[in-house]
Amino acid sequence: METFVHMNPTKLIFGQGTLMKLKDELKPFGRKVLLVYGGGSIKRNGVYDGVKEQLTLAGREVFELGGVEPNPRLSTVHKGVDICKREGIDFVLAVGGGSVIDCAKAIVVGAVYDGDVWDIISKKLYAPGALPYGAVLTLAATGSEMNAASVITNWETKEKNGWYAHFNHPQFSILDPAFTYTVPLDQTINGIVDIMTHILEQYFHHTPNAPVQDAFCEALLRTVVRTAPKLAANLEDYDSRETILYAGTMALNGTLAMGTPGDWASHNIEHAVSAVYDIAHGAGLAVLYPCWMEHVLDDGVAKFKQLAVEVFGVDPSGKEDRETALAGIRALREFWTSIGAPSRLKDFGIGDERFEEMADKAMARGPFGTIKTLGREDVLAIYRLAV
Ligand code: NZQ
Ligand code: ZN
Repeated sequence: METFVHMNPTKLIFGQGTLMKLKDELKPFGRKVLLVYGGGSIKRNGVYDGVKEQLTLAGREVFELGGVEPNPRLSTVHKGVDICKREGIDFVLAVGGGSVIDCAKAIVVGAVYDGDVWDIISKKLYAPGALPYGAVLTLAATGSEMNAASVITNWETKEKNGWYAHFNHPQFSILDPAFTYTVPLDQTINGIVDIMTHILEQYFHHTPNAPVQDAFCEALLRTVVRTAPKLAANLEDYDSRETILYAGTMALNGTLAMGTPGDWASHNIEHAVSAVYDIAHGAGLAVLYPCWMEHVLDDGVAKFKQLAVEVFGVDPSGKEDRETALAGIRALREFWTSIGAPSRLKDFGIGDERFEEMADKAMARGPFGTIKTLGREDVLAIYRLAV
């Protein structure tokens, strides 16, 4: 293992009926609350009414910013920052999926910064501070509810930037599995792929002696693989919603990254695609992650074999290690296809027209990846495998 420091200050409030705790969680924070939400799903499924009731009980003055896009845009962050500065907002409450929470993360740092918040998102400047914020999560996928990362798209320049400030965790996150019942099948599957990919990104590294980390990752992956088909068959199965929601948080709240650096190349490669084509992040990963695996296989055969055996039950006897490893990659792709995830860029009508542009975006900060350090030609090769 590598040396590590771990801290996660987000208070996680999990389970059915936990929204009623919101009014008490708001107590330490000021009176003026900016409620941030997406395109309207929370108004259709009743979550909005429940949140407003809690805000009223807490005696808060509420301002609203609705319409946060999937792949949230800088222009929407600017609107939120303007409201915070104009109204003297004390606390931001994000209610929605990862996009809404990511947008709130950018709003709260922009609210205490005099310049353009893009300086921080584009990493010209480390965030100097932030307003406090909390979350009510409605979709299992990103882990944003319990981490300090955010991904924002500048639609004018077609840049999708992941950024981070170590102090910028939600103060609390409320997760009621029943709030995810209304997530449609495709978004449910996208979320499951995103969760599995977060685990895999952290599973693949070259750091020796990480058996506890490996076992955490493998147990989470096996659990998601067992649960996902049940959930896809019945979107209102509480137990499955509960398992996937918890798995999603554990996949990216820092637990799996202790002492190991992770790879994260595929996320970079995918963000360049969704920056240009505005496709759902999880759907892009379903296509690109197995292609990354095939491209880098020979730099990590032993770990790919371990995945095949421990997660997908591939029998290694009588096989070369590489053959077992390849069977694992096939099993992952088949599993995602079996639950309805896309497997080719052409499923989105994407051809090779803009590969060069996407590769430039992926390479914006230089070579990346730990299993294999990828350069521009590697990125192009992975896009070509995904056509
Ligand atoms: O906008 P509304 O109307 O709320 O609808 C949303 C949206 O259309 C809908 N939805 C959410 N909860 C629902 C629901 N529909 C019905 N019932 C509910 N309960 O689902 C759609 C997708 O929502 P979104 O928030 O975009 O999905 P997700 O949580 O997958 O977030 C994706 C974004 O997060 C970034 C991605 O790049 C992408 O921009 N990521 C953030 C990360 C982080 N902060 O740590 C890490 C990830 O790897 C990822 O990159
Ligand atoms: Zn992701």
